[in-house]
Amino acid sequence: MTDPVIASLRRALEAHPGDVVLRIHLAQTLLAGGDPAAAIAEASLALQADPANDQARLLLGTAATALSSPPGAAEPDDAPGGGAAPGAPAGPAAFDWDKAEHEVGSAVPPPFVEASPVPVGPAADDGDGTAPVEVPREAVTLSDVGGLDDVKRRLEESFLAPMRNAEVARAFGKSLRGGLLLYGPPGCGKTFLARAVAGELGATFLSVSMTDVIGSFMGETQKNLKRVFDEARAQAPTVLFIDEIDSLGMRRGALSGGGAAWLRQMVNELLLQLDSMSGDNDGLYVLAATNNPWDLDEALLRPGRLDRSILVSPPDHEARASILRHHLKNRPIAGIDVQHLATVTEGFSGADLEHVAVTAAEKAMMQSIAQGAISPITMDHLGDALREIRPSTVAWLESARNVVRFSNANGRYDDLAALLDGKKRR
Ligand SMILES: Nc1ncnc2c1ncn2[C@@H]1O[C@H](COP(=O)(O)OP(=O)(O)O)[C@@H](O)[C@H]1O
Ligand SMILES: [Mg+2]
Repeated sequence: MTDPVIASLRRALEAHPGDVVLRIHLAQTLLAGGDPAAAIAEASLALQADPANDQARLLLGTAATALSSPPGAAEPDDAPGGGAAPGAPAGPAAFDWDKAEHEVGSAVPPPFVEASPVPVGPAADDGDGTAPVEVPREAVTLSDVGGLDDVKRRLEESFLAPMRNAEVARAFGKSLRGGLLLYGPPGCGKTFLARAVAGELGATFLSVSMTDVIGSFMGETQKNLKRVFDEARAQAPTVLFIDEIDSLGMRRGALSGGGAAWLRQMVNELLLQLDSMSGDNDGLYVLAATNNPWDLDEALLRPGRLDRSILVSPPDHEARASILRHHLKNRPIAGIDVQHLATVTEGFSGADLEHVAVTAAEKAMMQSIAQGAISPITMDHLGDALREIRPSTVAWLESARNVVRFSNANGRYDDLAALLDGKKRR
């Protein structure tokens, strides 16, 4: 590390401490030499001297990313050019707070202003919400899912309990079969719940989404779909999760134009596969999810197919508190009033809340970098984040109102109607 260039740059800076260009040059040299922590210190000094200096700001970001890359992954010579650290996901989500704390050094004040009643589970992957769905099994369990107690109970009754107690279930004539549709506004935990179910299950959990199945020519999609179901049956007991099923199972009547025949075939194949479930297919449970249940072909929802639907509603006050706590707990925080945050985030989805936590973390990170000392996430950062993020469930609920008014004759959307009623009364 006692590079002669660095030593002479430091000497020059001692003589001219206000020389921002020279300091940035030192920071770049330090970063290229594999010392991002020192580079951060110099870049933040440069930024303090010249807050409008974009080069210094950029360098801070690059150095922070380099700091967060795993030890050994740092390649001394390529840091200044590319921006992102090699091999590590770029961006603030990849920031390693523990390491930063160690490198920059500072005491961290108490996290929450109230005692946390929530048991802290295994560290979940606090990505930025866009992370791919396929995580290793057991990474998420139902205890990571905030709120949604009704939904959890229904999942427990319909297949988690029977699977855990196969003998008892058999005695009562309950076999693992059938299907359940999770529906609700985007970002409220449908996919997340399915991952949690996978974490709870001792059985095989297969997950398919639109992109897995859709092929580029006629017949291919059908074949793929059949293959998925065949595999699921072969590995029974299995829970097969079909995410965003509306993209596969659209109302056939609504399909027109060139792609219509193609899509219709797909719906028919899906129906066929769901039907063979009720025949020789004990041990196959189909869990499906959609934001737009009203776009689904009615035939998919008939008895023996996805004959039960559960609303995965936007998180209530308690659930919002628990989701926020979940997404903040592994970050440096101080004086966070989760109850207050839950109060001011009515209408926010789980994904919105995660976005709020990540945005606040970014703000605290940039502040930490500029100061050269860890500055934990505070209510101020969260307040700033909340000013930038709008609740996303409002629009969905508005459009759902019409559906409930005009197409709830069979009572399928009763729980949605109850939710909307409750909102109106408040
Ligand atoms: N009830 C919840 N508890 C905890 N986190 C949640 C909850 N709902 C949503 N999230 C967070 O938001 C992200 C997006 O949710 P997701 O399950 O993909 O929504 P959906 O499939 O309903 O559109 C999840 O990965 C999770 O981090
Ligand atoms: Mg989803």
